[in-house]
Amino acid sequence: MPGADTSTKEKNFYTDIPAAKHSFFLKGLDQYDWGMQSRLSRMFNPKSGHTVMLAFDHGYAYGPTTGLERLDVTIAPLAPYADCLMCARGALRSCIPSDCDKAVAMRCSAGTTILDENVFVNECIGVDIEEVIRMNVTCMAVQVCIGSDNERNNIENFVKLVDLGNKYGIPVLGVTAVGKNMARDKRYFGLATRIIAELGGHLVKTYFVEDGFEDVAAGCPVPIVIAGGKKLPEKDALTMAYKAIQQGAAGVDMGRNVFQSEDPIAMIKAIRSVVHENATPNQAYELFCDLKAENAKAAKAVKRAKTTKAKK
Ligand code: 5RP
Repeated sequence: MPGADTSTKEKNFYTDIPAAKHSFFLKGLDQYDWGMQSRLSRMFNPKSGHTVMLAFDHGYAYGPTTGLERLDVTIAPLAPYADCLMCARGALRSCIPSDCDKAVAMRCSAGTTILDENVFVNECIGVDIEEVIRMNVTCMAVQVCIGSDNERNNIENFVKLVDLGNKYGIPVLGVTAVGKNMARDKRYFGLATRIIAELGGHLVKTYFVEDGFEDVAAGCPVPIVIAGGKKLPEKDALTMAYKAIQQGAAGVDMGRNVFQSEDPIAMIKAIRSVVHENATPNQAYELFCDLKAENAKAAKAVKRAKTTKAKK
């Protein structure tokens, strides 16, 4: 127990100052309570209002994807440069040190794999809420295949997680997934992102579209992050991130365009400059090239030192 207040100073209740009102910095999420907003503030930088998420959840359905053969070797060194790590629980527990202080979006749906033609479409809730809490997860990510044969089941998994998320103050990221027969256009993404938000999703992950992304972002009442998709040349990936941010995305959740890059650390730093500092694609690409050259020089110096040591 603290001792009694023995201060002789006159108390001041600042009766002339109205109580502070805080409005939350992420759209559509004002009316949630403290725990939910605190977690969201770990995922998104409150200064820029944006996030750089690093997605390496590919293995849960695709096995050892190129660049992800050894998560401890390729992903752990990238973690310091991300705002949030997106992965499955096994990857997190086995390969990411628990003293890593990054936010985590855990893949909480699981089901069919690459060996099934319905990969991603036929999923169940794959993680218990107790496990989510035990692992100090910041956000639960779940696949929502709008328009698939299994749409109802996907939505059922999603709303169950939204209820659990609201109960424990853990945001849910609805991941749009496009079926093979669907057009990847503004009409589809506008529909899917809006449905996910209206069903209570706190965040939505979708793809960038050249034609009309601004409308997709505006029509979704909660923050949108974009997936990177297949590997592009670095400058093209930076241009896509730039356009998405300028047109209303709150961040990127990129995987292959980072870990399959010629220089993943240089690439994630260049992406950060676009997302958090409004760097243009040219500025960001220049940064990427400079950092890549510096890293190559440093690697050469280390190699030279090792060879000299071995010769002695
Ligand atoms: C799949 C996902 C993955 O996290 C995402 O696709 C991986 O990132 P990238 O496409 O940038 O490699 O959400 O539905």
